[in-house]
Amino acid sequence: MLVFGTRPEAIKMCPVVNELKGRPGDFDVSVCVTGQHREMLDQVLEAFGVVPDHDLSIMKPGQTLFDVTCGVLLGIRAVLEAVRPDVVLVHGDTTTSFAAALAAFYLRIPVGHVEAGLRTRNLYSPWPEEFNRQAVDVLAKWYFAPTDTSRQNLLREGKPAERVYVTGNTGIDALGTTVREGYRHPDLDWAQGSRLVLLTAHRRENWGAPMHGMFRAIRRVMEDRPDTKAIYPVHMNPQVREAAHAELDGFDRLRIVEPLDVLDFHNFMAAAHIVLTDSGGIQEEAPSLGVPVLVLRDTTERPEGVAAGTLKLVGTAEEDVYREFSRLLDSPEAHAAMAHASNPYGDGHASRRIADVLTGGTCAAPAVAPAEGTAGALPGAVAGEAAPSAPEGGVRA
Ligand code: UD1
Ligand code: UDP
Repeated sequence: MLVFGTRPEAIKMCPVVNELKGRPGDFDVSVCVTGQHREMLDQVLEAFGVVPDHDLSIMKPGQTLFDVTCGVLLGIRAVLEAVRPDVVLVHGDTTTSFAAALAAFYLRIPVGHVEAGLRTRNLYSPWPEEFNRQAVDVLAKWYFAPTDTSRQNLLREGKPAERVYVTGNTGIDALGTTVREGYRHPDLDWAQGSRLVLLTAHRRENWGAPMHGMFRAIRRVMEDRPDTKAIYPVHMNPQVREAAHAELDGFDRLRIVEPLDVLDFHNFMAAAHIVLTDSGGIQEEAPSLGVPVLVLRDTTERPEGVAAGTLKLVGTAEEDVYREFSRLLDSPEAHAAMAHASNPYGDGHASRRIADVLTGGTCAAPAVAPAEGTAGALPGAVAGEAAPSAPEGGVRA
């Protein structure tokens, strides 16, 4: 049984669902969505043609972490008891993943963790995701680590090496099916002839003052550069919408639009001059597309993209965002240095490797050349520190 509930989990789990369903002799597949997200989840299910067998439909407007944790934990019990799967697969670091893994553990059902081993080692950044992923890794039986860095993180915590597999990230599997030559969209036509900035933001620890500050910085930078246009598919969270409209309304070179279908979003990303984001998944996708990303966070658990040079961790303070965004727009050299495609997150066959492991086999890790200047395990990153010398865990701005 695969359990997921939010947009990014769905984007990275649907390729696994389809891979497992393609091997009917090996797997009897059941999909349980929690509905932690509703519209943004359904968009993805439709894009990948996945129809859930069970839907807990837990989402409430303005839900708290208590609502989500209790909703999933109590809701999934009957489903797990009825189906009694041999393994439950959860993904990454959401509260759906944590609560579903805990429920499986309470029923003594083994858990496989897809995208295991990412770390910042700061429980409050990202919050609550760093706790969620560490907690899932405490009780998982199989660890599907996207990179060798995440594998090393798990081994350092004493996880048994024979149950940690480097598979690549299943998000890269998804990316292989979405980006198309000759893709067109009215919003991209609007931006034609300008440098396109693509913006997303949603992290809980950025709600309030940090989010207002970063939006103000982006607007100030763009107001002085008339050859830029921005598209911002705004997350449905009311906290995010309030900040976005308060700071960005009335600026006609920045379009706030509804969340884009994943196919559209990936093609917008491929067309962008710069991506500004606090998203996790986008940090994995952009290096494959060679699009420079300024990461609007204080830490990242994705140091591979920082080391590859495509991502720069800029923090959330208004003046830091102002300085780094201006610099990247004004320096063709700085932009060129970041705009080269690299593939630290896999070769697009992560789902196949996961299926192979679950049938009792093993898997050879995807061939990934370490980025220049890095050997073996990378630390996570912290804003303001150079990635390769950062302490173990994430990278900080
Ligand atoms: C959640 C995850 C986060 C992940 C993010 C991806 C947790 C604690 N957070 O954060 O790790 O990075 O998803 O986007 O697991 N809403 C809708 N429709 C939707 C989705 C959200 O209206 O389709 C609104 C609702 O008012 C909902 C609110 O957004 O209550 C917050 O959703 P929630 O899943 O609690 O938090 P996210 O910030 O989306
Ligand atoms: N995404 C999308 N439509 C959008 C914005 C993002 O399909 O309008 C995709 C994006 O390509 C990535 C994922 O959603 O695969 C990231 O989701 P999000 O930023 O919500 O969550 P995170 O990755 O931070 O957990």
